[in-house]
Amino acid sequence: MAHLLVVDDQKSICELLEITFRKEGHRVETATSAEAAMRRLQAQIYDIVISDLRLAESSGLDLLKYTKEVSPSCFFILITAVGDYEDAITALNYGADRYVRKGDKLTEELRQVVRQVAESLKLKKEAGYLRRELRKLTGLDNIIGQSAKMRALFELIQTVAPQSSRVLITGESGTGKELVARAIHEKSTRAQTPFITINCGAFPETLLESELFGYVKGAFTGANENRQGLFQAAHGGTLFLDEIGNMSLTMQVKLYRVLQEHKIRPVGSTEESEVDVRVIAATNKNLETEIAEGRFREDLFYRLSVIPIHLPALRERREDIPLLARSFLDRFRKEMGKKVEGIDPDALRRLEAYDWPGNVRELENTIERAVALETEQTISIRVLPEKLREPTGADGLVLPEEGFNLQEHISKIERSYLMAALVRVGGVRTKAAALLGMSYRSFKHYAKKYGV
Ligand SMILES: Nc1ncnc2c1ncn2[C@@H]1O[C@H](COP(=O)(O)OP(=O)(O)OP(=O)(O)O)[C@@H](O)[C@H]1O
Ligand SMILES: [Mg+2]
Repeated sequence: MAHLLVVDDQKSICELLEITFRKEGHRVETATSAEAAMRRLQAQIYDIVISDLRLAESSGLDLLKYTKEVSPSCFFILITAVGDYEDAITALNYGADRYVRKGDKLTEELRQVVRQVAESLKLKKEAGYLRRELRKLTGLDNIIGQSAKMRALFELIQTVAPQSSRVLITGESGTGKELVARAIHEKSTRAQTPFITINCGAFPETLLESELFGYVKGAFTGANENRQGLFQAAHGGTLFLDEIGNMSLTMQVKLYRVLQEHKIRPVGSTEESEVDVRVIAATNKNLETEIAEGRFREDLFYRLSVIPIHLPALRERREDIPLLARSFLDRFRKEMGKKVEGIDPDALRRLEAYDWPGNVRELENTIERAVALETEQTISIRVLPEKLREPTGADGLVLPEEGFNLQEHISKIERSYLMAALVRVGGVRTKAAALLGMSYRSFKHYAKKYGV
């Protein structure tokens, strides 16, 4: 499917060609003057422009020059009358890609040319699709986990993916937000269309705007030709706006308008064009706090979070740690061609007890490093980073050099376990007591002692 602009001052010809190419499955827009066509070219990048040489007010040659100037890769087909031989030669010199004579066979000939161009576009797009497929095979789309929290997440992904509703993914750094965004795209009806990602935090404001919406030639110094924005590139597909919490307030207003109207306006242009894009956004910030502190717009928040998905931190689903560690081990062992086959129980215990502030990414890096360093068959504590080797279980406590007050230390530990248990069960004391293996009575005793 190609995106065409048909230009002719005779409305009937525009209509005829529009119908012809729609039938072939292309996206077609029409313009009845060179000026109108130029305005469209300000708003859109077309694959093909088909224009009559003789337009009422100006020549098709002007339009050709303009098109090649702002959008050099656009395929330009000029329609000429029988006597226009010299003009046709001029047109080729100006960079027209083809000219087709008016006459009985006009539509037939145009159809052939357009088919060829569309075919080569398709090949280009397929190359991109194959690249995406390859990425899938390398395991980027495998979300691992069997904890209740992850199973609920899988179900949610299955449910929301097919619709085109917007999704807002939140969660700490390294919890798999991008992985989930990709999975939603792959499971949607848009799976065969582009999935485009942008890190909104990585661009200064003005750059982000032209990156998202494109720009027209001359919009600013260095804008030498029209450029397509990511919203256009993602047309029909999914746009993943990563680190949305880092977007400036001005950009938030602009994005809000796009989500509201489904239209974008390239920088430096006055023309708008329609886009059909599913937006998935992600952030590791707490947007409610950002809103309360005036850094994020509430209206945009509601637009984006039609379906909110929160990814649990790894320490909230420790039961997944062995499984994740195992699969990373397998991957890195193969990649590095090493003989490491397992993780010894002591090392695994350390992995399970650690808090993982960097979540799955940190675990992944830890295992990669361990596989690289390990010379034996199984991963041992030796190859774990210092902070993991610090004893965390009852098996290997260290007494500080200068000694310390044991009772005070134990009290501190008791108090934090009490708090943790209460938080986990949502404040239900009987459940918290059960979780800590004590009677309700002794739980109350401790709770009172520590003022919990
Ligand atoms: N459930 C999971 N199963 C397998 N791999 C995972 C899982 N979650 C995350 N990963 C891996 O951890 C790494 C980080 O994931 P991802 O980039 O999706 O995190 P993120 O939430 O976007 O992080 P950040 O906020 O830092 O951008 C990736 O290499 C990803 O493949
Ligand atoms: Mg990310």
